[in-house]
Amino acid sequence: MSGITTKFTQLLGLRTPIVSGVMAGASGGALAAEVTRAGGFGFIAFGYGSIEKFRSEVALARSILKVQPQLPLPIGIGYLGWQLELPNAPAEECLSAALDENVQAIWLSFGKRLHQWIKYIRDHERSAGATKVFVQVTSVEEALVAVNDWKVDVVIAQGTEAGGHGSSSGSTLLTLIPEILAVLPKDGPPVLAAGGIANGAQIASLLTLGASGVVLGTRFLLSPESLYSNTQRQAIITARTASSVRTMAFDHARNTLGWPEGIDGRALRNSTVEDFEKGVDIDIMRRKFVEGVKNDDPDRILVWAGAGVGLMNRIQPAKEIVEELDQECSRSLRDAALLLGTVSIHTNHKIYHPRSKI
Ligand SMILES: Cc1cc2nc3c(=O)[nH]c(=O)nc-3n(C[C@H](O)[C@H](O)[C@H](O)COP(=O)(O)O)c2cc1C
Repeated sequence: MSGITTKFTQLLGLRTPIVSGVMAGASGGALAAEVTRAGGFGFIAFGYGSIEKFRSEVALARSILKVQPQLPLPIGIGYLGWQLELPNAPAEECLSAALDENVQAIWLSFGKRLHQWIKYIRDHERSAGATKVFVQVTSVEEALVAVNDWKVDVVIAQGTEAGGHGSSSGSTLLTLIPEILAVLPKDGPPVLAAGGIANGAQIASLLTLGASGVVLGTRFLLSPESLYSNTQRQAIITARTASSVRTMAFDHARNTLGWPEGIDGRALRNSTVEDFEKGVDIDIMRRKFVEGVKNDDPDRILVWAGAGVGLMNRIQPAKEIVEELDQECSRSLRDAALLLGTVSIHTNHKIYHPRSKI
C-alpha cells in the first residue's frame, strides 16, 4: 500500500482510505472481509435481510479475516433506517446483533429516526466510542445535523452519481464535498465521498478536494465476492455511462416503496424503466418484472449502478480492486505534485529547484 494517510485512515487504523459501501442484496461477508484484508474497510449490508442471514455473513467475514468470535471485527454493518422504522420491525434486535458481533462500525442511511438508532448504539456499545457511527448524507443540511446534533464519527457525502438509492435532486460530488467541508468545523469528523467513482485518479481528485476517504459501490459489484449474479455483472460491464439513470421504476416493480420523500435509485435503464416512464399499468409491469427475474432476463431485472459504470469493464477480486485503486491514486497524487515542479522549495536558505535535478 502507498501509505496515503488521512484522518479517516487514522480513525480506523487503515492502510488506504478506500471503503466498500453498504449495498443491500450485494455486499455480504466475503466482500467486506476482502476489502478490509486489502487495507481498506468493508461493510456488510443488513438491508432487507433477516438476523439469521446477517449472522451467517458475519461468520463468513470472521473466518476470512481469522478473527475469533467476540474479538473486535474490523468491518462494519449498514442498516436502512426506513426498514428499522417499519411498524413492528425488530429494530433494536437488529442493531444489537451487530453490537453483539463487536463490529467496528455501523452505517445508517435513509430514515426519519436515525438519531434514535444512534442513541441506541451509543447506549449499548461495549465501551464508549467502540463502535464508529457512519451516516450517509446527500446535502449540506443533512451533514450539519449529523455532525452538530448527532455527533457522528464519519460522514459519507453521497453525490447524485451514486449507484443505488440517493437523493433525487442531489448535487454532484464536485460541488457537494466543498460545500459540506465549508460548513463543518476543521476538527470535525472525516468526510468520505461516495458516487460514480471508478478509478484511482478520481479518488486522488476527491482527496485533494478535502475528502478524507472514498466509498465505492458499483466497482465492487464487479468482484466475484459481491452477491450480484453473473448476469448483473455482465450488464454492468457492457453498460455505457448514459445507461445509468435515476428512477423509481424498480421500487414500484418489486414493491419496496417505503423510502423517505425525495429518494430514488440509480440503476441501469432497461424495459422495466421504459415501461414505467410510459405509464404502463403497474400490475403488468410487476408481472413482467417477476417473469424477468425468473428468466434472469437483463432487459427486465434490476441492476443498481452508478454514473461511473461506463469506466468499468472487468471482473476482479475485491482485494485486487483495492490495491489497484490505491496505486492509481498515489500515482495521480504524485503526478499532480509535479505540476508544482517550477515552484521553488526553500531548504537551508538555499533555493532548490526539484526539476533542475532531472
Ligand atoms: C447494489 C447497491 C445497493 C445499495 N444499497 C445501499 C444500502 O442498503 N444502504 C445505503 O446506505 N446505500 C446503499 N447503496 C449506495 C452505496 O452505499 C454507495 O453510496 C454507492 O454505491 C456509491 O456509488 P457508486 O455505486 O457509484 O460507487 C447501494 C448501492 C448499490 C450499487
